[in-house]
Amino acid sequence: MCGIVGYIGHRQAYPIIIEGLKRLEYRGYDSAGIALYDGNSLNLSKTKGKVSDLEARSHAEMPIDGSIGIGHTRWATHGVPNDVNAHPHYSNSGNLVIIHNGIIENYDAIKKELINRGYTFQSDTDTEVLVNLIEEIQKQEGAKLGKAVQIALNQVVGAYAIAVFDKNKPNEIVIARLGSPLAVGVGENEFFIASDASPFIEYTKNAIYLEDEEMAIIRLGKEVKIRKIKDDSLVDPYVQELQMNLEQIEKSGYDHFMLKEIYEQPRAILDTFRGRLLSKEAIIKMAGVEDNMKKFLNADRIIIVACGTSWHAGLVAEYIFEDLARIPVEVEYASEFRYRNPVITENDVVIAISQSGETADTLAAIKLAKSKGAFVFGVCNVVGSSIARETDAGAYTHAGPEIGVASTKAFTTQITVLSLMALRLARAKGTISSSDFRRYLIELELIPNKVEKALQSDNYVKEISNIYKDSRNFLYLGRGFNFPVALEGALKLKEISYIHAEGYPAAEMKHGPIALIDEQMPVVVIATKKGHYEKVVSNIQEIKSRKGKIIGIVTEGDVHVKELADHVIEVPETEETFSPLLTTIPLQLLSYHIAVMLGKNVDQPRNLAKSVTVE
Ligand code: G6P
Repeated sequence: MCGIVGYIGHRQAYPIIIEGLKRLEYRGYDSAGIALYDGNSLNLSKTKGKVSDLEARSHAEMPIDGSIGIGHTRWATHGVPNDVNAHPHYSNSGNLVIIHNGIIENYDAIKKELINRGYTFQSDTDTEVLVNLIEEIQKQEGAKLGKAVQIALNQVVGAYAIAVFDKNKPNEIVIARLGSPLAVGVGENEFFIASDASPFIEYTKNAIYLEDEEMAIIRLGKEVKIRKIKDDSLVDPYVQELQMNLEQIEKSGYDHFMLKEIYEQPRAILDTFRGRLLSKEAIIKMAGVEDNMKKFLNADRIIIVACGTSWHAGLVAEYIFEDLARIPVEVEYASEFRYRNPVITENDVVIAISQSGETADTLAAIKLAKSKGAFVFGVCNVVGSSIARETDAGAYTHAGPEIGVASTKAFTTQITVLSLMALRLARAKGTISSSDFRRYLIELELIPNKVEKALQSDNYVKEISNIYKDSRNFLYLGRGFNFPVALEGALKLKEISYIHAEGYPAAEMKHGPIALIDEQMPVVVIATKKGHYEKVVSNIQEIKSRKGKIIGIVTEGDVHVKELADHVIEVPETEETFSPLLTTIPLQLLSYHIAVMLGKNVDQPRNLAKSVTVE
């Protein structure tokens, strides 16, 4: 993972890099560093901890002057998070500095070779090996920086987004990408380099996204020159206009990004509908589906690949697609799918779901499916991301930037896109009548308002959070469409409060988890009216007999569960199909409040990263 930022231009680089790194902390935050060139010397500061720690330290230990620089926020792969392993890394001569997001797999062999040639290493990182390999090539071949980087990259195996600076060539920064994202912001006689466009959004709307296996020399006063790393051929840079704005990536008065993003869901779902859900005309328009309708209609099955929360959205989609469109669906962890020699044919449609569009396992699963001839459709949030580009067609969720590491609005907008797809395909296949189709559309259109209403439980959820915040374990139960919501609720709690939580299909409780239930165990049960209500109520009774504490997520006006449960949180009534969009809201709030009360770092939970670009 890791976030990288660079600047070359006429402004002071330091504030741009520091602020940019803060925006990229979702990519990793165990250590950070910065290198600046002030016209004479190359100064560097790095530290274990967050970008704010770097800010304090760098002010004390280096001149923060200069209009060229690179910075890094790390999620450790090789070497523990400490000051020495933090990036940037110097080469042995001190002339080169590098920042790197990714993994160099054959670093050990290269390191041995370099040690034989007299190189010494300060850190345990693969990155320090790469910068010294570049230096060695410069020496051996008399190559300029760009050429040396290219030769080095042709020798390494792995994944990278890198930026390299040579103090002997102080008007350029060399960058390259394979498997990790890299964007260049093109301003007036200035360039910005970053893992995504958020660090430079207030300076320029023009961005070039490097493709895999491309490198560029970013030189002041010159056009960006992009080349293929392998064969040196020139590539025409494609300058995109960014749609993102600064407000979208700021907290706008909320204490945390996660809370802001929870509250953004009504708007985000509306944005997902925009131009697609036309209820008056009773149609759903999705270009990616329309253009490939035959593939979907002739598919033997749909295979969904994803990780984490996106995998949970895939599970919800399994219920929706099978129920409405009658297409068999299998949902796979991308990390398992890619390595287990799965049976895939040309008659399969694969749907890859990913908020970031950069998850390494999902990307690898897509490549595998494509190599077997399957048609691959992407459901991504980040426009222009690797997965969005790698898939044959797709639909964006349009949730806007999601910065909190625990995914919230990405989940509900993924379910929204997948619901629209399922309905569109159901109509095309004739598996639902036109009157049912209309009814679903009308109901779907009401969801943003109903999410708004579900959010009104916030204060009550906070009270409940206060009661249970010290529990050591939680159980989450749900059935049918709401089974994956139980999984997602448990994941949210684990991720940000570090409380152990398990999600289970309600009826499976009796095959194991029931043994855990006693008066110490809060059990969150999703018991909405239409979803196997009576059966779930029986499960609630079973929990009650064992003295478990019951938090019921119920449909507005419910009386039955209220009699049995210790607490009930109401959500508006809707079609069972769409109920995950509502039942998930109080679970997001519950995990949020508990984590805040426990004093945890909600937006940047320990050991996690938002965009997992390593396997
Ligand atoms: C990480 C994030 C999760 C996310 C998962 C998949 O684990 O912390 O929030 O669900 O990756 O990410 P993707 O971007 O592919 O949806």
